[in-house]
Amino acid sequence: MLATHSTSQRRRLQAVLEHASGDKRFKILEAHMKKFQFRHDALIEILHKAQELFGYLEDDLLLFISCKLKLPASRVYGVATFYHFFTLKPQGAHTCVVCMGTACYVKGANKVLAAIQEDLKVKPGETTADGQLSLLTARCIGACGIAPAVVYDGTVTPRQTAESALEQVRKWVTP
Ligand code: FES
Repeated sequence: MLATHSTSQRRRLQAVLEHASGDKRFKILEAHMKKFQFRHDALIEILHKAQELFGYLEDDLLLFISCKLKLPASRVYGVATFYHFFTLKPQGAHTCVVCMGTACYVKGANKVLAAIQEDLKVKPGETTADGQLSLLTARCIGACGIAPAVVYDGTVTPRQTAESALEQVRKWVTP
């Protein structure tokens, strides 16, 4: 597909693009890149938007960005790892990203987040002591119609409450 990517990267990219077609967040991110005319000098802006949408910058997301901007993946990784305000793949075996955008917030995302924080003794950006769960926040993941939304291991889950969120995350951590 691109001369800037190796064969294995292209294969992974194919899988990412298939997944991306069903995930609104990728569409929002792509629209953002378009706004910047896919300019290379907008990379930091675009990484910020990606982190806002996904909570962190995992490998597949960086690969998606490098493909869309037609930049070598190494360049995108380089920038993402250089700046401290970017979070790469969290350490936890599982991830829970609570959307704190306006629509989710007014429907109680703050209560969901507070319940997880209190129950698991973990703050956003941190991983539980047993290494099982990383808690993150995002700003509007493009699912306002099903607010408040939480993304558990990449799956956008609708209308979360403190109870439903705790039921999910407690399965992952050591009691
Ligand atoms: S504010 Fe949470 S999905 Fe839009």
